[in-house]
Amino acid sequence: MKKILVTGAAGFIGSNFVRRALELRPDWEITVLDALTYAGNLENLEGLAGKHGPRYRFERADIRDKAKVEGLFRDEFFDGVFHFAAESHVDRSILGPLTFVETNVLGTVNLLEAVRKYQDISRTRFLHVSTDEVYGALGNQGFFTEDTPLNPSSPYSASKTSSDMFVLAYHRTYGLDTVITRCCNNYGPYQFPEKLIPFMIKRALYGEPLPVYGDGKNVRDWIHVDDHNDGTLLAFEKGRPGEVYNLGSRCEKNNIEIVTLIIEKLSRLLGNDRSFKTPEIAFVKDRPGHDFRYAIDPAKAECELGFSPAVSFEDGMESTVKWYLENRGWWEKIISGEYLQFVKKQYGEKG
Ligand code: NAD
Ligand code: TYD
Repeated sequence: MKKILVTGAAGFIGSNFVRRALELRPDWEITVLDALTYAGNLENLEGLAGKHGPRYRFERADIRDKAKVEGLFRDEFFDGVFHFAAESHVDRSILGPLTFVETNVLGTVNLLEAVRKYQDISRTRFLHVSTDEVYGALGNQGFFTEDTPLNPSSPYSASKTSSDMFVLAYHRTYGLDTVITRCCNNYGPYQFPEKLIPFMIKRALYGEPLPVYGDGKNVRDWIHVDDHNDGTLLAFEKGRPGEVYNLGSRCEKNNIEIVTLIIEKLSRLLGNDRSFKTPEIAFVKDRPGHDFRYAIDPAKAECELGFSPAVSFEDGMESTVKWYLENRGWWEKIISGEYLQFVKKQYGEKG
């Protein structure tokens, strides 16, 4: 059995990762570590303990808690750490950057320190999940390669860039076996409903206008969460120590295209539901420092790792929209309490 630790696994990408890894890697025993912040939800991991028994274990812990993190690594040997835990929402980072520094930078360094001190550094592979946002914004032309200079715009991307630098420093200085992945925008089930796609689905179902920042022409490169997670597994198993791999599926869309597609899909799927009214798009104040375009060149991951995304955007969006329709209870439970305060601050209204 291989012992694997996954941080941030009660969030969107981490929970999809754990579910997939437990199926695809029967010789893995996974310990899940998560602080259960506003973005962490135990329902995302529901059924895993029953299905996989002792191969799955949940540990509530905050990566900022040095003593707790050290205790975990002192008591147990891990073959691998998948580090997903982070504060992940750009708009929240603009409203309050400090938590992003604490979790994304200090929390990551706490983990690296604990691995350095208490694990066998040549055997414990540290897979750091990063983002294409560290490269900053592109104009109409060009792609991010692993050699593109880092030029983050938001406090979120600055904190992720900083954590990437620490991971690389721990590899160069202490010989830690690290691999960094930088992926583009993910979509799929269990995404917290403040991110573009689930947020717009929720608003449309509530008959609320869909707030598009600026002129809606900003471009994001989209990948289904399962393809991202397959790339993460490949990077862990085949990546070279100290390397960075960009993950993406060559699928650029501007925000208006995404929102229009959501409206089209909901209108078709809910055609017979009289309570559904086609929502309006409302162009609202732009996000400060809003990156114009992201576009990943995944050639290195394709050549070195055999990375090959399998989900087409059309199929992925169809199943994703259906998932949010069929799992209304999941997101309706979330959109209360703290979430409402954020939406009020961000959009100046009730969510
Ligand atoms: P998310 O916000 O949905 O989940 C984050 C998880 O981390 C939550 O379960 C939360 O409880 C946990 N967490 C936060 N602070 C913590 C702390 N101090 N200690 C322990 N746990 C903590 O995020 P996501 O969208 O699933 O993103 C996961 C990772 O992937 C992040 O590192 C993010 O930067 C990266 N990433 C995300 C995308 C995307 O499109 N969502 C794209 C590329 C990379
Ligand atoms: P988001 O899901 O926050 O991801 P990121 O900022 O990490 O790319 O946003 C995706 C895009 O959608 C981004 O260009 C901002 C835009 N956006 C809106 O136009 N309106 C919204 O209400 C939200 C949440 C995002």
